[in-house]
Amino acid sequence: MAEKTNSPQVQTSAHFRCMFFCVMIATLTMIYTVQAKQADAFEQNRKLGRGVNIIGYDPLWRAKEQGRFKENHFKIIKDGGFSTVRINLHPFRHMDKDEPYHLSSSWFEVLDWAVENALKNRLMVILDMHEFNAMGADPQSNKEKFLSFWRQVAEHFKDASDTSDKSENVLFEILNEPSGKLTGELWDKYYREALAIIRQTNPTRTVIIGPPSWNSVNSLNELKLPDDDRNIIVTVHYYLPMDFTHQGASWAGRKDKVGVEWLGTDEEKQAIVRDFKKVQDWSKKHNRPIFLGEFGAYDRGPMDSRARYTSCAARTAEGMGFSWAYWQFDSDFIVYDISRDRWVEPIHNALVPPE
Ligand code: BGC
Repeated sequence: MAEKTNSPQVQTSAHFRCMFFCVMIATLTMIYTVQAKQADAFEQNRKLGRGVNIIGYDPLWRAKEQGRFKENHFKIIKDGGFSTVRINLHPFRHMDKDEPYHLSSSWFEVLDWAVENALKNRLMVILDMHEFNAMGADPQSNKEKFLSFWRQVAEHFKDASDTSDKSENVLFEILNEPSGKLTGELWDKYYREALAIIRQTNPTRTVIIGPPSWNSVNSLNELKLPDDDRNIIVTVHYYLPMDFTHQGASWAGRKDKVGVEWLGTDEEKQAIVRDFKKVQDWSKKHNRPIFLGEFGAYDRGPMDSRARYTSCAARTAEGMGFSWAYWQFDSDFIVYDISRDRWVEPIHNALVPPE
């Protein structure tokens, strides 16, 4: 006798197969859509190109009208040959004192203004969480604030993109220079939690992550990234030799140690090349693009030495396929003199050589 094919069990299992099949198709379509929409991190890094750090220490965060940085500076930056601004954010002082640590609407207004104007001037934007001092001093107590920052900022900017170009031109950098008590081991946990929060609302956003110990080029091997997330750019900072780049810098214990030159001898240049080559080797081995997010020499050093050093670091980085952002537009290490309304020519020319 022929087997019955329409018994309730057979019907149920057919239903299950059909449901399973539909769920599979939906999941595959979702994965495919996310992957298709997802920017290629190497392409994003090429678009970052030459950048500059901005407004981290500008009074405009207290009151917009007190700002040194004005709307026209975005155009000046673009016309000056840069393609990216790295916006240094100190959000903790703009949060509620208690959980869930709401960020003030006036802080978001300033940030929206900066992002909109940067995009309008066809600049790429990096939102750099710059509370590294607080995080390094007491990571445990500040962890919830740090995660809350990303919950709010990721949600707020989830649709941010330059409308004239489908790709996403706003990138998130999880934390500037993890250091101090935020050890390599802790940083690995913290950045993964922040990344998971970001991915909930921003599955296709390019995210920037650096190694512990002040994003040092020598700590890259301590950085382990999730293999299945390819939309990540790796950042390092470079200020070596510190006795030259931070001469006269009180915060680096070198207040009275000035007059150090950087002559551009083969030995000096080779030190930079060697350090960057290590980064390039790491990048090739792990197939991750590199963004040199900070470099430069403090204003107290001799100008000709600073220009030589800055040019050598920028050209070496470019030669190795890294994008970069100079530290910084205004405040200290300046490339632009806001009070005189003009570029600091030797530094500007070192960064963007005249054609
Ligand atoms: C810090 C600045 C400092 C610079 C160079 C940045 O990450 O935010 O305060 O001047 O590094 O030391």
